[in-house]
Order: sequence, then C-alpha cells, then structure tokens
Amino acid sequence: MPTILDGHLVAQAIRQKLSQQVGEIQASGGKAPHLAIMLIGNDPASHTYVKAKLKACQEVGFCTTLMQHETIAEKDLLRQIEEVNNDPAIDGLIVQLPLPQHISVQQVINSIKPEKDVDGFHPLNYGRMARNLPAHVPATPLGILTLLDHYNIATSRRHCVIVGRSSTVGAPLSILMGQNRYPGNATVTLCHSHTQQLSELTRQADILVAAVGSPGLITAEMVKEGVVVIDVGITRVPDKTRKAGYRLQGDVDFEAVAPRCSHITPVPGGVGPMTIAALLLNTLRAAQNRAYTAD
Ligand code: GUN
Repeated sequence: MPTILDGHLVAQAIRQKLSQQVGEIQASGGKAPHLAIMLIGNDPASHTYVKAKLKACQEVGFCTTLMQHETIAEKDLLRQIEEVNNDPAIDGLIVQLPLPQHISVQQVINSIKPEKDVDGFHPLNYGRMARNLPAHVPATPLGILTLLDHYNIATSRRHCVIVGRSSTVGAPLSILMGQNRYPGNATVTLCHSHTQQLSELTRQADILVAAVGSPGLITAEMVKEGVVVIDVGITRVPDKTRKAGYRLQGDVDFEAVAPRCSHITPVPGGVGPMTIAALLLNTLRAAQNRAYTAD
C-alpha cells in the first residue's frame, strides 16, 4: 500500500513551530504577525476557506483582521486595499478568490503592495519567483514543495507531470519544480484543457500533480506503478448521505489509483492543510521583511 502524504500532520507540525516562533518574537519585545483577509461575496467554499485560514492564524498567535463585504464597488475595494497597504500594523493581505464578476482580479492583485502580498499573486512576486529570487510564493505550490520535502521524496531528474495550468497552482508549480534546487530539478510537463493524449503523458509521470477541479479525472489506467500522486482538486460533490449535503472529492479516483502509487495525498487532508500552513509561513516572512528563498 502507498504512503499517505498526511497534510494534516505536517501542517500541524509547522503550526507548532510557528507558534513557538511567535512566542519568541513577543518575548523579545516584537509584535505578532498580522494577516488581513478580504472576503467579497457569498461563495460558500470561499467562506469555508477563510474560516480555516483565520482559525490557523489564531492557533499560532497571529493577529487577524477580516474585512467582509457581501458586495462592494471595485473602487471602494481598491481604496480599502490602499489603506491596508499603508497600515504599518498589518504585515500581510490576501483577497480571497474568486471575486464577483464586476471586480477585476488583475486590478485587485496589482494594487496589493508586493511586500504584503502573502498569496504571491502580484506580478512582481511572480516574476521574482520565476527568476529564482526571494519572493512570496503562492501558497498551494509552496505547500506541495513543503510536503515533498517533509517526506523526502526525490524530485531531481524525475518527470513531474502537472495537469492544470492555473495561475495560482499549476503554472507556478511548473516553474518551481523545474528550478535548480530541492524540491525541484525535475523535468516538467504542464498539461491543460488543450493537451492531446493526456493519458500518454500522465502515464510517464514519476510525480503526478492533478489541479483542475474535475472530480475523479485521474483513473488507474492513467498512472504508472510507483508514481507519487499529489491531488490538489477539492470539489463539492452533492451527497445526500452527508449532513452537509455534499462531500469533497479530489481530481484523482483515490480508491482505484492509490494501490498503484508509492505515495498519495488524500482529499481532504492532503494539500488543503499545507496551503494554509504555507500562507502562515509567508505571513511570518512578511512580518520579518523577508521572502521565500531556496537558500
Ligand atoms: N482561492 C482559492 N485558492 C486561493 C488562494 O490560494 N488565495 C486566495 N486569495 N484565494 C484563493
């Protein structure tokens, strides 16, 4: 049977260490890192994610500010972002995505001060990351690298096939996994909705990352024996047998694929908790005026 890559466990260890670091900062007269979160609209999944992010911050002793609007004009949101940019008490800011249609995601991301952009979405952070310079790196890719590192999974010379080219996960992860360091030095293939013969490519993967939000897309026939599978998908699938009325399903058909893997992430409990842990790491680094670097 495969090793289950337990994101809950690894994230808990990270939170424990962060909690200690916050204690040390405060003991030496410093202030706890402070994350501001903006949540716009009524997307139920976004509300759940933000709740989990706030809870994790509180657990490690970070200060938090939640700015929540059922609806807001773009110009008012941009003004609020500017206020946070100029507030020396706040170290990091994220605007939860997706945003309502009338708001330009690009405008919003571009208006966040890069030093406070702990999502790593600002073009300056993205560009610095791509050049292998210290930067805030998007939380999900950083969480995946941290998980690979924790389980000592070899990446050098291995073929990493990523399915999904989103700007928050697939695209940045493809850059990071190809860079000259550990985890990295992989040969990377980035697949997307226009990729032909997807199965032929996924079957070549030593490390397969699925990040498309298409439940059960990756089947047993699409992977080779001994593969490491990272499932980023987390889709709410209607399920009347559950109290919530839905269950969370990954992009990988876990039951069928797991027996063929050397390692696999569960959904939930794999990448999700690591994403939040990585956001905490980015926020601490922002408070220390530093950024993610491999060195
Ligand atoms: N929505 C889904 N994932 C993310 C994320 O990593 N950051 C933000 N801000 N919104 C998201």
